[in-house]
Amino acid sequence: MKKKTPLEPKDRLILALDLPSVNDARYLVDKIGETVSIYKIGYRLGYAAGGLELAQQLVEQGKQIFLDFKLHDIPQTVSQGIKSLSRTGASFLTVHAYPQTMRAAIKGRGAGDLTLLAVTALTSYDDTDAAEAGYALNIHDLTARRARQACESGMDGLIIAATEAKDIRAIIAPHIELITPGIRPFGALANDQKQTMTPGEALKAGADRLVIGRPILSANDPKEAAKQIMDEINEALTTA
Ligand code: C5P
Repeated sequence: MKKKTPLEPKDRLILALDLPSVNDARYLVDKIGETVSIYKIGYRLGYAAGGLELAQQLVEQGKQIFLDFKLHDIPQTVSQGIKSLSRTGASFLTVHAYPQTMRAAIKGRGAGDLTLLAVTALTSYDDTDAAEAGYALNIHDLTARRARQACESGMDGLIIAATEAKDIRAIIAPHIELITPGIRPFGALANDQKQTMTPGEALKAGADRLVIGRPILSANDPKEAAKQIMDEINEALTTA
């Protein structure tokens, strides 16, 4: 696990570039300018034509890239995949929180400085889905178990629902990074997120960084929406 360093307010917001094409993404990044420093690229954009080249170009332009590829495969494949993805210059990468996969991820990173994040349990899963997939534990216990295993494996951070941040922070090492999606500014549409928190609430619950997509992507003025979220982040940090 890397030593957790104090974060600047601008390092707290991760904008999910959930857009269909590289051109759409470039247009948005240009429009947003300096307001956002970290962009998340997931399946949709990463696997679109030119997705990984875009990641590399944004790194060259001084942005940080979060590759949300949620890797899980045999150890050799995970390690080698991470070596290849590291060449993009990305700063963050997600893998599923299976102990074998996490160990392979850490091996694949080697001496590189990629921040490795563990996805404990998908937030689309409930207890019925977990049972259907063959797990004896309910989602709450599965999340807690995997959070502990991620710490023991030396992972740098966890992706968890904002609503779980407080509980997880209480049971695991304080120095692991907690990154939370499901963030909605007051009055924003929840969309398909079932357990949401505002940026200020999530930070106060122990989240270190917030992943936000549609409240910015769907806004009439995405730059203004991002600025308002940054204002809320700044306010939450100064009143903490
Ligand atoms: O648009 P919205 O703010 O809901 O986007 C949230 C982002 O976080 C999406 O890219 C989604 O894939 C990601 N995510 C999530 N829940 C998780 C893990 C990742 O919503 N448990």
